[in-house]
Amino acid sequence: MCGIVGYTGPKEAYPVIIKGLKRLEYRGYDSAGIALLDGSLKVYKKKGRVSDLEDEVVGKDLHGHTGIGHTRWATHGEPSDANAHPHRSSTGKLAMIHNGIIENYAQLKKDLINKGYQFKSDTDTEVLLNFIEEIKENNHCGLEEAVRVALKRVTGAYVILLIDAEEPDTIIAARKGSPLVIGIGKGEHFLGSDASPMLEYTKEVVYVNDYELAIVRPDELILKNLGNEKITPYVQKLDIELAAIEKSGYDHFMLKEIFEQPQTIFDCLRGRLDTLGGTITMSGIQQYADQIMKANRIVMIACGTSWHAGLVAEYIFEELCRINVEVEYASEFRYRNPVIQPGDVIIAISQSGETADTLVAIENAKAKGAIILGVVNVVGSSIARASHGGAYTHAGPEIGVASTKAFTAQLAVLTMIALKIAHDKGTIDQDRYMRLLAELAEVPSKVEKVLKTKDKIRDLAEKYKDARDFLYLGRGFNFPVALEGALKLKEISYIHAEGYPAAEMKHGPIALVDENLPVVVVATKDTYHHKVVSNIQEIKARKGKVIALITEGDTATAALCDDVIIVPEADEILAPMISVVPLQLLAYYTGVAKGYDVDKPRNLAKSVTVE
Ligand code: AGP
Ligand code: GLU
Repeated sequence: MCGIVGYTGPKEAYPVIIKGLKRLEYRGYDSAGIALLDGSLKVYKKKGRVSDLEDEVVGKDLHGHTGIGHTRWATHGEPSDANAHPHRSSTGKLAMIHNGIIENYAQLKKDLINKGYQFKSDTDTEVLLNFIEEIKENNHCGLEEAVRVALKRVTGAYVILLIDAEEPDTIIAARKGSPLVIGIGKGEHFLGSDASPMLEYTKEVVYVNDYELAIVRPDELILKNLGNEKITPYVQKLDIELAAIEKSGYDHFMLKEIFEQPQTIFDCLRGRLDTLGGTITMSGIQQYADQIMKANRIVMIACGTSWHAGLVAEYIFEELCRINVEVEYASEFRYRNPVIQPGDVIIAISQSGETADTLVAIENAKAKGAIILGVVNVVGSSIARASHGGAYTHAGPEIGVASTKAFTAQLAVLTMIALKIAHDKGTIDQDRYMRLLAELAEVPSKVEKVLKTKDKIRDLAEKYKDARDFLYLGRGFNFPVALEGALKLKEISYIHAEGYPAAEMKHGPIALVDENLPVVVVATKDTYHHKVVSNIQEIKARKGKVIALITEGDTATAALCDDVIIVPEADEILAPMISVVPLQLLAYYTGVAKGYDVDKPRNLAKSVTVE
């Protein structure tokens, strides 16, 4: 994620860019920066929000009719002034901003250091910038050609905007895998991650495609492919208003983030999962692989939705790695006097990386000698920094208070860790290992397929929105999914909902069942399926309303239920990443049907940084 803005034309660039960055700040808010050209190249950047950048540049020279601006969502290098974009090249002549991840940056950096380059930041972006400059200087070519040559040799995702002190009114842009829009003005051009920075100036836009490169001047837009062939820009007229566009056309950030999941799970796997070579590469885990393999136990520590991810991981790690796993509420763990044995491995799971209970819990455990691995979304956050190692979930900023895409990204990371450890430990046979890697790579497309059933789920929300209570049931890997589905419904629609292991019904909760109680049963085809079907029959025998989440083709189970939600077939270990998605949608549409602010539910905050 991150927000990028560019301008070149008769206006002063600074106000256009700053306003545009504020419209894009939802895409990333670790730091902000701007580069301006008026003959001289000026770069101002600051850790924190766009408002912090504004404070930083008071009294500075802000003239320039060409400029680029960036709000960062850190992936390589924690949020800091030095890691903020724009980055300046080694000669100082070039400035660049970047949205995305350069996967082969480490090798490129090593080669450049061997050539005498020095780096001022920890980012992959600065490496790409100096790689481009090194080509420009050594090949004695123009900036455009240097960019083309460089981009053919990098792997990963990018949108880059580059300006050159020697080409005062020109912006060079290129994209692969991250979004870029160019606004067409009269004698001026605008660039942005989406159209929101330019909408007040123009509604004529060009959406740049992957592997395309744009040379943008006030009265000229040249589009080319990396083979240096010109492409005729396809100009579209925007017919949407600004407010909508910041949510990319979705009514709420929560819905946008639910629908981002095919991409965010893909981003989480990218550069790590190699289904052909049969490898999983996670440097922050690799260095602790031995300790994890030899651990007597792994303790998952988290809160809320992240705690549910820990529960899924318990089933996966025990099944695949044959290591004892315990899952602890951080708030309980930190106040007990827990027994921590040397060699215990703690996995702290957190979207924000700032949850106070989780942070203190791991500090206490670290003080007792445990190894702390963080599975965190926000790079450089407190929990990430307090951990010895770990892996980022790369889900991008999660704005909706209800955690959705972060949860499935957590499951993707935890599944990769378990598969890696099981493979290294030899507790999984090679065929099953390779099959699970291949199936894991298919999860994004299966989530995509589930999202296409949104209208059916919206109808279910309308049908059951007035229920006073809900029960959510599941067994095995799907038991935590039932808990997560219940939490989503509670926090978004304020309907009381409880999740239970399906078999637990007969130990009390079945007394709640009558014709007014909807019971969501996660009944996908797995080891426990026939037992869950019996639970469905027990509920139907007491007139409960059953909404079953079933595997496509399971007509026998469908015949027993009042309503069904269908999901694609998946190995039970991977099923939670798919099964949770319709439950997220059910909660979302129920909250909307009841007229609530689903992005900011009452009484809740996005990150619980207090005890
Ligand atoms: C989940 O939808 C809630 N927003 C909440 O339970 C959240 O998961 C919990 O506060 C933990 O937050 P973290 O993942 O940022 O640590
Ligand atoms: N990978 C770059 C960094 O970490 C860009 C991140 C972004 O897209 O904001 O600085």
